[in-house]
Amino acid sequence: MKNIPVIMIIFGGSGDLAHRKLYPSLFNLYEQGLIHDNFAVIGTARRPWSHEYLREQVSDAIHETHDQVDENEVKAFASHFYYQSHDVTNVEHYVTLKKLAQELDDRYSAQGNRLFYMAMAPRFFGTIATHINDQHLTGSGFNRIVVEKPFGHDLASAEQLNKEITASFDENDIFRIDHYLGKEMIQNIMPMRFTNPLIKNIWSGEYIKNIQITLAERLGVEARGGYYDTSGALRDMVQNHIFQIITLLAMPEPKDLSSDSVHQAKQELLKSLIIPTPEEVKKNFVRGQYLGSDTTFAYKKEPNVDPDSTTETYVAGKTKFTSGPIAGVPIYFRTGKEFKEKKTRIDIVLKHINNPYGQAHSNNITIEVDPESKIYITINGKKIDEPGIRREDLTYVFSKEEMAKVPDGYERLLHDVFANDSTNFTHWSELKRYWEFIDAVEDAWQKENEAGNPEIAQYLPYRMGPKEADNIFESPTEHWIYE
Ligand code: BG6
Repeated sequence: MKNIPVIMIIFGGSGDLAHRKLYPSLFNLYEQGLIHDNFAVIGTARRPWSHEYLREQVSDAIHETHDQVDENEVKAFASHFYYQSHDVTNVEHYVTLKKLAQELDDRYSAQGNRLFYMAMAPRFFGTIATHINDQHLTGSGFNRIVVEKPFGHDLASAEQLNKEITASFDENDIFRIDHYLGKEMIQNIMPMRFTNPLIKNIWSGEYIKNIQITLAERLGVEARGGYYDTSGALRDMVQNHIFQIITLLAMPEPKDLSSDSVHQAKQELLKSLIIPTPEEVKKNFVRGQYLGSDTTFAYKKEPNVDPDSTTETYVAGKTKFTSGPIAGVPIYFRTGKEFKEKKTRIDIVLKHINNPYGQAHSNNITIEVDPESKIYITINGKKIDEPGIRREDLTYVFSKEEMAKVPDGYERLLHDVFANDSTNFTHWSELKRYWEFIDAVEDAWQKENEAGNPEIAQYLPYRMGPKEADNIFESPTEHWIYE
């Protein structure tokens, strides 16, 4: 598929996401010819920029992310960009936008195809969707919309937003983006599970003791205190990224690799997601906030954060399914700001087996997602010069050259939007289930807050988070593999 005709409208065209991710990714797709002669991009935002200024910004964005570029190509690419100053609450502005889109459609022969991208503050998503609908911004060809996270703040607001969006777009045309689904090693979960008898045949409660998912970040909330304080780690990282990973790990094998079949397998699994009771939340979840150090603020002292905030910068928890290949297997997860290092990894811990050597180590399968990309399996063998068992890793890695070829998650996902492949996007029915789970935890925490006794562990920055998270395991023989 090449040279897809389309007019793309980016709400938030002057923003950080557009600059850092969307413009460089679009350039790469342009270089590959996926979009070429018949596309134009309208960047909108409140600032009074000109077309020329936007083109300079686009060109800067490409230079900042590429070592070597052909200047003529950059210029030719940037010439497809147009800027429209836009107040999302002003209905008149949608009329102007519609006119510009139509003009560009004629100029570039875009065949009435429209792609809308919501890349601005989520509180505006509903308003934009409403006006796309009441001002009839959709074109006569395909109409797709990409929605950034967070998609809602809880189930009720997500349902409302979904209603506003589905007024103009079919579910198949809504691309709820989760950049984790564009990551190389996350996309490696399905092939790893389904093509290796070595792995596929042990993927059950008979052999797997537990699964552990860690999304650790070195950074604090930085300049995002205002947003973060209304969100917290559970909504910011678990509702989307962690749950998507869990789903890929626990879903049954899809009947084929089509988007429909993959989503069907996910939905089948999610029906059996166990929603925790308040008692289970108390027992199986830990929330925490980072403390300050000589050089860094405690979370409660960060700019734009309520000094009495109960928002968590760390959460650890447990979940399980009643059906699927790993029904009943505990899945533990944790994520937090100001960990000792940036690390995204998945550990699959296998049960021990009785053996004539006595003590042996468990086999673990580890998938490292960031900052390195690799899979390794711990394996037992004999010690060379003394009796006993030693453990080594069998490792699946990429060469430097291969790593350099891995496209950025955004590029991959944008490619899929143009190619109309929604496999790696969140379907509404999945999102709904995730929110049901998150709401149950948030409600239980809210009740604790109201009762005046919230248990919010305060943890030292740049270590491993609160030690309370060591106590969420079901049995004393379980512990975090990554320590
Ligand atoms: C985002 C969260 O979705 O993911 C951020 O809003 C977080 O708070 C980021 O820092 C982490 O993404 P990555 O790709 O750096 O692991």
